[in-house]
Amino acid sequence: MKEGIEGTDTFLSPGKGRGLKALKHFKVGDLVFACPAYAYVLTVNERGAHCELCFTRQEGLSKCGKCKQAYYCNVDCQKGDWPMHKLECSAMCAYGENWCPSETVRLVARIIVKQKLQKDRTQSERLLTLREFESHLDKLDNEKNEMNEADIAALHHFYSKYLDFPDKATLNELFAGVNNNGFTIEDEELSHLGSAVFPDVALMNHSCDPNVIVTYKGTTAEVRAVRDISPGDEIFNSYIDLLYPTEDRNERLIDSYFFECDCPECTSKSKDKAKMEIRKNLSTPPEPEEIREMVTYAKNVIEEFRRAKHYKTPNELLEICELSLEKMGALFADTNVYMLHMMYQSMGVCLYLQDWDGAMKYGEKIIKPYSVHYPLYSLNTASMYLKLGRLYLGLEKKSLGVKALKKALAIMEIAHGKDHHYIAEVRKEMEEQQ
Ligand SMILES: C[S@@+](CC[C@H](N)C(=O)[O-])C[C@H]1O[C@@H](n2cnc3c(N)ncnc32)[C@H](O)[C@@H]1O
Ligand SMILES: [Zn+2]
Ligand SMILES: [Zn+2]
Ligand SMILES: [Zn+2]
Repeated sequence: MKEGIEGTDTFLSPGKGRGLKALKHFKVGDLVFACPAYAYVLTVNERGAHCELCFTRQEGLSKCGKCKQAYYCNVDCQKGDWPMHKLECSAMCAYGENWCPSETVRLVARIIVKQKLQKDRTQSERLLTLREFESHLDKLDNEKNEMNEADIAALHHFYSKYLDFPDKATLNELFAGVNNNGFTIEDEELSHLGSAVFPDVALMNHSCDPNVIVTYKGTTAEVRAVRDISPGDEIFNSYIDLLYPTEDRNERLIDSYFFECDCPECTSKSKDKAKMEIRKNLSTPPEPEEIREMVTYAKNVIEEFRRAKHYKTPNELLEICELSLEKMGALFADTNVYMLHMMYQSMGVCLYLQDWDGAMKYGEKIIKPYSVHYPLYSLNTASMYLKLGRLYLGLEKKSLGVKALKKALAIMEIAHGKDHHYIAEVRKEMEEQQ
């Protein structure tokens, strides 16, 4: 029996497959619905900082006595997680350093367990079930098929002891479905916490000018309106980082989700010019060819940086950023999104190196253009205000800090809801400064 979600319904959205439609009004900031994760996994890098079961962030979590790698709030959380953790606990001990399944593989292993434990429709599938996921299996190219093959091999390699595997075709479909419908969970500063499937949330189609935002409370996804929504309106969220120009966004959407976007932003391209801003004080205006070459250079650096992150030292990474900023800066304004991308990366490295002054300087350059390029309510803008505000407070710049945190809160109260624990935490940080 399909239970449904009050105030919404599933429908066939022309050209987009199934979609979610509003049946009533939602005001900006209203919770449209919440969806517990069907399955989820904490990312390896956050072990010890968050409980593996409920994702609570706190100090002094207790370690699993066997593997000494998983951490919990208490015995209840540890017991609750055992059906999932047992897939990995002894395998991690046995493989040691060689235990390295990808996060997708870890998530799929948990999905297979969940499918076995719970045959009925779950509270995460009031409108769309995991088995109904759009997988676009027929559209996978060689590269994607090979990735699937590798994931399936890793699943067999690391999880054979406690898992009964479905057949190859079912597994292929499962991986493709998770790639097309999976979510990553981030914290308030947009640091990656884990991966999950939220089937009902995956029913929503994409728009570059979305009317809802998805945030997380523990392992539950919450969908809130960031525009007024009327009965009959389709409910859209965004699948991608909306910083980039129309062409870049669509390259990403085609590659990852197999569609081209026809939203108002993609049709009007109204923000593209500001996103590609050229320096004002050039003696002669640049030729279109010159601009195209610089864009190609920028995209190559972005890709190079993405790969280099895994093996270069922080200082080498900073050098890549600074060199590219210098080269692009000859043509692009500081507000240009490719400049902003590299400044964001630089800021990340500075934060890692605890160079707070350096991080602050990049943050200050980024924040204003962010509020122009991103939609009014954006988690990217909110998290940048949050990082900058926290930096200011740490550097004893109290009034700047409080001002930045207030800007973050104004967005978070809409996106996360006024009663989210993140908001209480930020308020406390502000009060401690009074
Ligand atoms: C997470 S699913 C969304 C639900 C999907 N429509 C369904 O029927 O299951 C993602 C898929 O929906 C479709 N989709 C999402 N947004 C779209 C859009 N703006 N235009 C066209 N297709 C879209 C694409 O096929 C994409 O791979
Ligand atoms: Zn817990
Ligand atoms: Zn363990
Ligand atoms: Zn679009």
